[in-house]
Amino acid sequence: MEQAKVYVITSGKGGVGKTTISANIGSALAMRGYNVCLIDADIGLKNLDLVLGLENRIVYTILDVVKGQRSVTEALVKHKIMKNLNLLASSQIANKDMISPEDMVRIINELSKHFHYILIDSPAGIERGFKNAVVAAQHAIIVTTPDLTAISDADRVIGLLENNGYTDKNMSLIVNRIKPKMVQKNEMVSPEDIQSALAINLMGIVPDSEEIIISTNQGKPLALEDDKKMSTIFNNIAARISGDMIPVGEDLKNFKENSEGISGFFKRVFGGR
Ligand SMILES: Nc1ncnc2c1ncn2[C@@H]1O[C@H](COP(=O)(O)OP(=O)(O)O)[C@@H](O)[C@H]1O
Ligand SMILES: [Mg+2]
Repeated sequence: MEQAKVYVITSGKGGVGKTTISANIGSALAMRGYNVCLIDADIGLKNLDLVLGLENRIVYTILDVVKGQRSVTEALVKHKIMKNLNLLASSQIANKDMISPEDMVRIINELSKHFHYILIDSPAGIERGFKNAVVAAQHAIIVTTPDLTAISDADRVIGLLENNGYTDKNMSLIVNRIKPKMVQKNEMVSPEDIQSALAINLMGIVPDSEEIIISTNQGKPLALEDDKKMSTIFNNIAARISGDMIPVGEDLKNFKENSEGISGFFKRVFGGR
């Protein structure tokens, strides 16, 4: 197998949806037949293991690998249904000094031989562990919600990523928790406005949705349920990652929060493209 493509999913502010988006893009790529490894580099409220429904299956974590007690392949946990989706879990007890950027590079180099895609769920830019998460990736996905604090923190994290060698060629934006109706009424900033403020490529638009809350609580990624409106969006993002040209305007097409509102939203944001 060729070397894996390595993506880090990060943000300026915490709680904007990095873990949710990592799990769902990873699942969507796995459903497309790729071998995918998710690395949990964030210790947050909802960890990747919970969102994937794997919390009871974890035996070893990244810390066991760093300490040399397990090989990285021994430490991986396979998804219960998607066997080509793997997780390297984070350690709840590790502190930032226990894992170095060099450890991370070594782990990713080893994993790269076995996977098509490696996705690293990173801590927010201000948090510990950020440097570890970004050092070994080739592409950064910055997640923001449409509120000013998140956008301004995203701007700051883009600066941090630039200091770590990233450019606008390998950084992309996902705007999460969009409410099309509010955008249409000018009560919420549009994804297009956020993109032009941050000046990086827009990779996806994810609406605010109860489906996300339900799937997260059940530990069942949306990619497993093709009747869900949201699964199309993550499929689109996975398709873009694997090289298909799907316009970002497609993302909200099936998302009928209010059909009149949606068409108005499209006209306004995408100019009827
Ligand atoms: N598009 C969305 N619609 C509704 N809820 C969402 C959405 N994205 C994330 N959430 C919820 O927001 C919370 C924070 O998401 P999470 O992925 O844990 O953020 P982060 O990893 O950036 O801290 C979770 O409870 C999650 O279910
Ligand atoms: Mg998280």
